[in-house]
Amino acid sequence: MNFAPPPQPPSLLPESAPFTPEQRVWLNGFFAGLISVDGSAVTPLSPAESAALMPGAAPGPKDPAADGDDGEAPWHDQTLPLAERMNLAEGRPLRRRMMAAMAQQDCGQCGYNCQDYSDAISRKTEERLNLCVPGGKETARMLKTLYAEFGAQPATVAKAPAAAVVAEAAAPAVTVPPVPAGRSRDNPAIATFLSRTLLNKPGSAKETWHVEFDLKGSGIDYVVGDSFGIYPANDPGLADAVIAALSAPADFPIGGRTLREVLIDGVSLGPAPDMLFQLYSYITGGTRRQAAKALSSGENPDGDADTLDVLAAIEKFRGTRPDPEAFIEALDPLQPRLYSIASSPKVDPDRLALTVDAVRYPVGKRTRLGVASTFFADRIAPGAKVRAYVQRAQHFGLPADPSVPVIMIGPGTGIAPFRAFLHERMATKAPGRNWLFFGHQHSGCDFFYENELAKMKAAHVLTRLTLAWSRDAAEKVYVQDRMRDVGRDLWAWLAEGAHVYVCGDAKRMAKDVEAALIEITAAFGVRSTNEAITFVADLKKSGRYQQDVY
Ligand SMILES: Cc1cc2nc3c(=O)[nH]c(=O)nc-3n(C[C@H](O)[C@H](O)[C@H](O)COP(=O)(O)OP(=O)(O)OC[C@H]3O[C@@H](n4cnc5c(N)ncnc54)[C@H](O)[C@@H]3O)c2cc1C
Ligand SMILES: NC(=O)c1ccc[n+]([C@@H]2O[C@H](COP(=O)([O-])OP(=O)(O)OC[C@H]3O[C@@H](n4cnc5c(N)ncnc54)[C@H](OP(=O)(O)O)[C@@H]3O)[C@@H](O)[C@H]2O)c1
Repeated sequence: MNFAPPPQPPSLLPESAPFTPEQRVWLNGFFAGLISVDGSAVTPLSPAESAALMPGAAPGPKDPAADGDDGEAPWHDQTLPLAERMNLAEGRPLRRRMMAAMAQQDCGQCGYNCQDYSDAISRKTEERLNLCVPGGKETARMLKTLYAEFGAQPATVAKAPAAAVVAEAAAPAVTVPPVPAGRSRDNPAIATFLSRTLLNKPGSAKETWHVEFDLKGSGIDYVVGDSFGIYPANDPGLADAVIAALSAPADFPIGGRTLREVLIDGVSLGPAPDMLFQLYSYITGGTRRQAAKALSSGENPDGDADTLDVLAAIEKFRGTRPDPEAFIEALDPLQPRLYSIASSPKVDPDRLALTVDAVRYPVGKRTRLGVASTFFADRIAPGAKVRAYVQRAQHFGLPADPSVPVIMIGPGTGIAPFRAFLHERMATKAPGRNWLFFGHQHSGCDFFYENELAKMKAAHVLTRLTLAWSRDAAEKVYVQDRMRDVGRDLWAWLAEGAHVYVCGDAKRMAKDVEAALIEITAAFGVRSTNEAITFVADLKKSGRYQQDVY
């Protein structure tokens, strides 16, 4: 067959790349869509397309968010699966359905809360559709589908061209956003890593580190309740394994850096993105092409989709050699990670502490490493500089009145912000009472900050400490079980105006703790279950029940 390609934009593939003319056209179209040739990630909308943003909205310069829908968001529950959230949002304006596609944690990792992120996308001030970390590929795919309703080019998840990825990794903080350095993920400052100390004792199944940073000269400041964002680096061993699997030279030049450098700090080597499978679908054939195509649209043809990180994806399509630059462009940029701050600036404004659980888990013969947590645990030496910023807590902080009692519920690493709260209340001599619920697997080896907490108790800063050990006995005991045990006292604190805080696991713990609080309210506040649900909902609305969950 004669193949006569239509006029094309400038080639994005190196002349030496081993593709047929037909493949070249496909790939150039693919990457043009991916990055857009003018370097912007998403094709701008025409006025007509903008008008189509909100079904029913009149065309014109109207703010798409001013669509009259500022009501309740019943899907705003991190435990609901995406399909259910989308059902709840059916018939709502596009920006509200986009919000339903977010993971509903308001975790701040994308730099927004869920509603502001969706509003920013619909206002077109945010082009990146793949920022929702807890939502992962599922959210990115749904956003892409919804974005297509704009009538624009079907949006890809936003990509930085390889050169931009490289520039970002190599030259931090070169852009000048309207916030000072260290206050947003887009403009990090430089902090110095000081130390790590293992919080578990021998025999523990967990590996959790107390990590400290020096902020001197960084310009970073914070208040308790804030989170610390850091830009990690991948394991160089993993980057080398990727290079070997690609059969590419480690020093292959990409935007003034080497392939190896970009693989270490420019791109995510975690779950293989749809774009990588799309790339393979163009450069492989037969059943492998079908598999790659299916994977790129979220299907699971061989039952292994959940295990395919970038290296595993290359290995799955072994024998197919993508151009290294095209390969890098098909990956997601390496995102920063957030950690609840575990220290108080009232003790020392230049010191910042975190409580970090190291993520390691086996898949087949390989141990997968959490990028940031093992960066802290294994790969960073005291004195090293890291790109970092503070993510201001929007609705998580000590009461303004220092005499108000606080109840803090934080199993595992959930203790982090409560260590900060206690340090703050000690440093400021706040008269309010403090009650901490902490839990973990074993009392003997997982009791974080045990000595410190004992001292705070002796100093009457920590009024009450209630502990739940899930694996000390045959039956699991969780923080919410201990809350029920002491429900009468807990209700008495609530009745006296205590604020309640929950930190840690979003998927199960936070929901279970809320259910326990409702039960306690019903039992000891003498209310029906419905009244108790309303009471707890009102606590939330009035800022007396705050969560920092992830
Ligand atoms: C506001 C906020 C505060 C946070 N505070 C803290 C904190 O104080 N301390 C803390 O430790 N973390 C905290 N986190 C979580 C933290 O940001 C990171 O998500 C966490 O450290 C993992 O990041 P990572 O880069 O090490 O792992 P990643 O490289 O991101 O890998 C994590 C992913 O690996 C997969 N995974 C993990 N374990 C398994 C398993 N057993 N089997 C299969 N897959 C698995 C999951 O998909 C998981 O999402 C917080 C998050 C937010 C949003
Ligand atoms: N992806 C995963 O597979 C995975 C697994 C664990 C943790 N995480 C996440 O990793 C982060 C760090 O975890 P972490 O070190 O802080 O500890 P964690 O794993 O959250 O565990 C802390 C304590 O909470 C208990 N727990 C488990 N389910 C609970 C529930 N529904 N209600 C109350 N307590 C519960 C645990 O008990 P048991 O361990 O005995 O059940 C343990 O005693 C969290 O974000 C967590 O969500 C992810």
